[in-house]
Amino acid sequence: MARILLIVGGGIAAYKAAELIRLARKAGHSVTPVLTAGGAHFVTPMSLAALAESPVYTSLWDLKDEAEMGHIQLSRAADLLLVCPATADLIARMGAGIADDLATTILLATDKPVVVAPAMNVRMWLHPATQANVATLRARGVTVLDPDEGDMACGEYGPGRLPEPADILARIAQLLPGTGSGSAAEGGGGAVPGDKPAAIAVTSPLAGTHILVTAGPTHEPIDAVRVIANRSSGRQGFAIAAAAARAGARVTLIAGPVAVPTPGGVARIDVETAQQMAEAVADALPADAAILVAAVADWRVANAARSKLKKDVGPPNLEFAPNPDILRTLAQSPDRPRLLVGFAAETDDVIANAAAKRTAKGADWIVANDVSGDVMGGARNRVHLVTAAGVEDWPDQSKDDVARRLVARIAEEIQ
Ligand code: CTP
Repeated sequence: MARILLIVGGGIAAYKAAELIRLARKAGHSVTPVLTAGGAHFVTPMSLAALAESPVYTSLWDLKDEAEMGHIQLSRAADLLLVCPATADLIARMGAGIADDLATTILLATDKPVVVAPAMNVRMWLHPATQANVATLRARGVTVLDPDEGDMACGEYGPGRLPEPADILARIAQLLPGTGSGSAAEGGGGAVPGDKPAAIAVTSPLAGTHILVTAGPTHEPIDAVRVIANRSSGRQGFAIAAAAARAGARVTLIAGPVAVPTPGGVARIDVETAQQMAEAVADALPADAAILVAAVADWRVANAARSKLKKDVGPPNLEFAPNPDILRTLAQSPDRPRLLVGFAAETDDVIANAAAKRTAKGADWIVANDVSGDVMGGARNRVHLVTAAGVEDWPDQSKDDVARRLVARIAEEIQ
């Protein structure tokens, strides 16, 4: 049972704070809501109070007796502070140390772990100002969760959606002492020694596991400036790494050249070529499960030039050599992860080709997808899970939802 002080910022996602309170209460925690003026435009104090069965605090000036230092009391009485949803404005004010209302005053006064669950328009999230504020908060030990990617209330698409309340609670479970594997990289926000919060009973399905993910394309040099590449965006692999981290795993993400932000709680290793990716995978072992999502180039240029090839000498005569097959090598390794999952990008005979790949490469599962449309680089994915037991057809869904479902299946398999 943990005592959560929930700061509800303004924004359309504020209604999800109600769902979060419901889930937290179901898991046995107490929730004390603090509603900002912005938040009060989207949810009422009454609905939060009813769900939390607690008074809802809205203003510095309605704390009964400021002689009691009400804002300090509120922080003292909590094991953890959760800002959900956190707007770009609230994050900026936290970063600057502004304390001009109850929420920001508590946030400045607290010595408890602070978790921030952002929700905003994609451009606001990606704006350098917001990214700088997030980096400042993270450097100070605040756990800023990465927003989910998907369709937004404003009609745009991208990162900015509030993470699912269940995922937020799972991350909170990791941060409280004596529960799951707290992330050293993200710190705990400075809980004071001896001030031990009670255990929180939210489950982290992959706690204690190491999950290895490859993602993105590889680039195979032709000369000093040219490469052979492919259209993989890395989004599906990054979404899987993010979902595994949210489920409590230690995650190593080995990424080819992509322009996707590193998910929170994920250790990322950047590589360029297939050979480098193969080496990075070998170095990252042992792992409990490996999900190889990368679109690895099958061949490299054997006679790549060290300097830039000049046009005048005519088109180059490229010679190709086969690249290592990372999946096949991993399947035969003495360090083979207990669960080995490959992806099969196919344009024809999707299921038959994927099933053949599963046995030929020695994978446990193959996630097969039809890439004849705009899947590569797109936001959605329609996949089939090919296992020894048969084929499951999953509905057309966002890459985040594919990731969530796959990670849930992996947790069932390896825990
Ligand atoms: N893979 C790998 N190393 C390679 C090629 C592929 O680890 N050199 C992995 C991919 O990450 C993926 C799976 O193998 O998990 C299938 O990749 P795919 O490109 O569909 O298969 P290929 O073996 O390249 O077969 P083909 O291109 O003939 O379809």
